[in-house]
Amino acid sequence: MSRKILVTSALPYANGSIHLGHLVEYIQTDIWVRFQKLRGHICHYVCADDTHGTPIMLRAEKEGVTPEQLIARVWQEHFDDFSAFHIRFDNYGSTNSPENRACAETIYRRLRERGLIEVRSIEQFYDPVKQMFLPDRFIKGECPKCHAKDQYGDNCEACGAAYAPTDLIEPFSAVSGAKPELRNSDHYFFKLSADTCQQFLRQWTRSGTLQAEAANKMQEWLGAEGENKLTDWDISRDAPYFGFEIPDAPGKYFYVWLDAPVGYMGSFKQLCARTGIEFDDYWKQGSDAELYHFIGKDILYFHALFWPAELHHAGFRTPTKLFAHGFLTVNGEKMSKSRGTFITARSYVDHIKNTEYLRYYYAAKLNGTMEDIDLNLEDFVAKVNSDLIGKYINIASRCAGFISRKFDGKLGTCNVAATAEFKATFDGNEIARCFEERDFSRALREIMRLADVANQYIAEKAPWTMAKQEGRETELQEVCSTALTLFRDLTLYLKPVLPELAAQVEQFLNLAPLTWSDTWQPLPAGHSINNYQHLATRLDPKLIDAMIAANQESLKNMTENHSEQRHAEHQQKVIEPIAETINIDDFGKLDLRVARIANAEHVEGAAKLLKLTLDIGEENPRTVFAGIKSAYDPEKLKGRMTVMVANLAPRKMKFGLSEGMVLAASGSEPGLFILSPDDGAQPGMRIK
Ligand code: MSP
Ligand code: ZN
Repeated sequence: MSRKILVTSALPYANGSIHLGHLVEYIQTDIWVRFQKLRGHICHYVCADDTHGTPIMLRAEKEGVTPEQLIARVWQEHFDDFSAFHIRFDNYGSTNSPENRACAETIYRRLRERGLIEVRSIEQFYDPVKQMFLPDRFIKGECPKCHAKDQYGDNCEACGAAYAPTDLIEPFSAVSGAKPELRNSDHYFFKLSADTCQQFLRQWTRSGTLQAEAANKMQEWLGAEGENKLTDWDISRDAPYFGFEIPDAPGKYFYVWLDAPVGYMGSFKQLCARTGIEFDDYWKQGSDAELYHFIGKDILYFHALFWPAELHHAGFRTPTKLFAHGFLTVNGEKMSKSRGTFITARSYVDHIKNTEYLRYYYAAKLNGTMEDIDLNLEDFVAKVNSDLIGKYINIASRCAGFISRKFDGKLGTCNVAATAEFKATFDGNEIARCFEERDFSRALREIMRLADVANQYIAEKAPWTMAKQEGRETELQEVCSTALTLFRDLTLYLKPVLPELAAQVEQFLNLAPLTWSDTWQPLPAGHSINNYQHLATRLDPKLIDAMIAANQESLKNMTENHSEQRHAEHQQKVIEPIAETINIDDFGKLDLRVARIANAEHVEGAAKLLKLTLDIGEENPRTVFAGIKSAYDPEKLKGRMTVMVANLAPRKMKFGLSEGMVLAASGSEPGLFILSPDDGAQPGMRIK
């Protein structure tokens, strides 16, 4: 029976680039959506840019463009980034659309009709220079608790204290620097404290719409029965504001979080207009369609409290389920600009290109809970190379050539006994269940188990041996055909995760697009396949290193360009005076060689020295004591190439004989840097 499913991912803010943290969510959602479509269900996936609010308004002003121009540019960037990672929305809209405005107004009007909107005057900081009310994030001052300077209006980064902006000592506007004034203004509130909201949310929380962890959080927010912990929600902001003006309230705008989730509807409306789907089939109360929101755990509050309460009281259906996920860490730590691990989608594409590697890795980590997930860069390379290439791709690359070369590209009959054995060890329904539950890591473990069985079969049969023996042609063709049938099955199961690769395999195996099927069929004898072409290559860890280095570098450039003070410092820096002039013969006396550091170790009792074993292609390597202990960990030096003076007279030292010298750079600032030749230089090459 075919289901009707509408799926969303959170709408990314239009004031920043998509990074690998965001991609956890969009890749997770996309895999799930592709799985549902593959199963033959009707499934629509919509998303949009979240475009409103003060930060976007101010950024546009700074760049000298209109907010509309800014969000149009960012929309294209976001859309291109998502496309590069094969995230295929059925509609990618913008919250700044007429459809979204209409939906937001409808919801607001209906809430007002039900008496759930209230106007109250509140006191707030106002920037008299910029002539605007300031959001908490745009007010700074001294922390009332620990007295750290330059803290934001909502909490202190030094001591972690949370407070109201009015508690700050000597507050100032982060926009103009002016001293803010307290002013009164009318604000519009959604009455979340009303009994009807609290009761509804209590019941909704318990109806199985939330993961266990999320349901617990909700209980905390709601409080015990009768406690009524929820307070009204301020949904308006005063002009100037980039957003939708509230109907019948000139100068008042919907707060960005009011029209953001409504953006799910607005984007879906565009899809309906384009394709003829009925909007009401999916959104009216009592609809039999399923509605799922994939979100990060940081925005659960908005999606589990405000959003369902709004929908319910405005006469719309509520989400079937919220799927919250955890946050991404890189190498076990928060993404960091200075460590180069704040990686944008663009930077990944520029350096690594193959975006399915990341899809595969995230899938291998995701299990449908709210736990954080770690991108360990070493593990990433290892997993891609050992599983994806080593186990999966390997099956095709070991068998396809024989079919092309020896059998004119035609398959033979499959070995029924062998395939029966595979089927017995393996259960497609179980894989489907794992995908459905968003336990992708478990699905991939199952799939890789089948890959292991297939590889074992190939290893046992050793088609490469058969190929050399006369009279075993039929057997060879059978083994390869059987293995390629299994490869087809693996491809089907991996297709939600690796859509591009699956398309290449379909082309190579000369098959119509694979769809999920419960009845298993071997590839038929006589079926022609195309010549095997390289499907994927190993992931080179050097690409990762280059990406990290480039990210660190771009950060350096940023701080240098933006801080004039640093620039001035650079101009003034004095370098050591240049030494007395020499001629070429003087220079020729120096014999500099490329050396491989074969070994490096600490020297007992030596505060500054490391003992290096240098290979410059001579029969016996040289021992050199180098004063670089303060700057280098010997373990990291092993195997590195560097430069040494090879004709320096040996010198007897307290710790032994030193047979040369390595070169290192140093200046007035701390730091010591040994040299490296470019890639390709061999030990013993002379430097002239
Ligand atoms: N604009 C709001 C969402 C509005 S939805 C009606 C927003 N935007 S965001 O750009 O900050 O984040 C978009 C999604 O990406 C959120 O679900 C957020 O949790 C997720 N992530 C952002 N950074 C993340 C990580 N570092 N790790 C995992 N997910 C992260 O919130
Ligand atoms: Zn503090």
